[in-house]
Amino acid sequence: MSDSKLVIALTKGRILEEVLPLLESAGIIPAEDMNSSRKLIFDSNLEDVQLMVIRGSDVPTYVELGSADIGITGKDILMENGSEGYYEPLDLKLATCRLMTAAPINQVTTPKRLRVASKFVNIAKNYFSEQGRQVDIIKLNGALELAPIMGLADCIVDIVDTGKTLVANGLEPREHIADVSTRVIVNKASMKIKHDRVQSLLERLAEAVADKH
Ligand code: PRP
Repeated sequence: MSDSKLVIALTKGRILEEVLPLLESAGIIPAEDMNSSRKLIFDSNLEDVQLMVIRGSDVPTYVELGSADIGITGKDILMENGSEGYYEPLDLKLATCRLMTAAPINQVTTPKRLRVASKFVNIAKNYFSEQGRQVDIIKLNGALELAPIMGLADCIVDIVDTGKTLVANGLEPREHIADVSTRVIVNKASMKIKHDRVQSLLERLAEAVADKH
């Protein structure tokens, strides 16, 4: 971790598009267009702030291990990763969606052990075990909707936003597991060592969030 720079790890994709205007309201503007560049680390208008852009699931790792001071990613990623290694001080209320179970429309299955396909294996495990339900979890990395269609699983645990992907694949949302939105996480040492800069950024971001709502 650099002592002089404040490194912020951003999640590429839709979260990045929604977060950039909020960062701008908080006074941080990337030195070049992050959406069109192939670069992974960017300078900003502030000499001491750098921005990284990575996969959401890697954001907690960079922040926990201190290569980034601050991270911005989805609550789904944080729930899947576990929330021990960093602080989670702010909800940016962006990219809101739900974690749900989903299954084929109108299909009633009561197998002894439900087969659940998900890329969120820890979330799925925790959800069903809290209910005392024994399930077999099947890890997939994407296109989860295919699993029930192809007979690989009875249901899935996935992100639902508009619900269109489920409908397009003959599935329906069933059980609500959690509401998801974009969160700010902070490395524990950075919170102490770079306290004033981190705190000031958190305050500016919180103001920008409040102005939007
Ligand atoms: C998510 C999720 C669903 C879709 C839901 O995928 O896995 O496939 O969005 O959105 P909807 O309810 O508006 O249809 P995403 O596009 O994030 O891609 P990935 O999970 O496959 O990376």
